[in-house]
Amino acid sequence: MYRVAVFIGSTRPTSSNLKLAKALEKLAAGKLEFDYVQIDNLPFYDDALWNDPPAEVIRLKREISDADAVLFVTPEYNRSIPGILKNAIDWPSRPFGESVWTDKPGAIAGATGGVSGTAAAQMHLRSILPVVGVALMGRPEVYFQSRPGAIDDAFNITDEKLRSNLLIWVDQFSKWIGRFAEPRAAESTPVMIAGAA
Ligand SMILES: Cc1cc2nc3c(=O)[nH]c(=O)nc-3n(C[C@H](O)[C@H](O)[C@H](O)COP(=O)(O)O)c2cc1C
Repeated sequence: MYRVAVFIGSTRPTSSNLKLAKALEKLAAGKLEFDYVQIDNLPFYDDALWNDPPAEVIRLKREISDADAVLFVTPEYNRSIPGILKNAIDWPSRPFGESVWTDKPGAIAGATGGVSGTAAAQMHLRSILPVVGVALMGRPEVYFQSRPGAIDDAFNITDEKLRSNLLIWVDQFSKWIGRFAEPRAAESTPVMIAGAA
């Protein structure tokens, strides 16, 4: 079981991106454990604040460090990512040389009512995240056009073909994380094996 720190680019309680993340979480049950990271209490990035770093920033960096992987599920704002998400990416990348994103396996997805499925926003994420150190999974990509009923109230993907494709995404993301991390279950394996033969 891998622990994934999840960043949602929208703070709306009824966010379609939060709903998509919850649907992915459900599909990934038993393989991935999602921890939703709070990003709406961070100050705007200010280098001077490192003199006495805000508790929210310390907490954010710790949550990323403790995770096996990171996942970004975001809407597209004006053909890019929302400012709140960029701010949450910038903070953990500093102080210089102390980025907690380094070598952290990651993936991205996004939902919008538009036909492009957040493609432009995801392209921007694909240029930002490797620069801060995230080891970003290239494919499969997830472009989700949210329509009423696409995800039901219990976070089930209602379209069977889409559901089976997202299961493939879960499988691929799990394998991607496995290239970088040891699963938490390994903690239950014995530290010493003694025997005679
Ligand atoms: C400032 C702003 C800019 C937006 N720009 C885009 C855009 O470029 N492309 C797009 O597909 N949708 C755009 N939208 C629509 C959002 O993708 C849509 O509202 C989405 O559902 C928001 O995500 P959420 O449901 O997770 O809050 C924009 C919305 C806002 C508020």
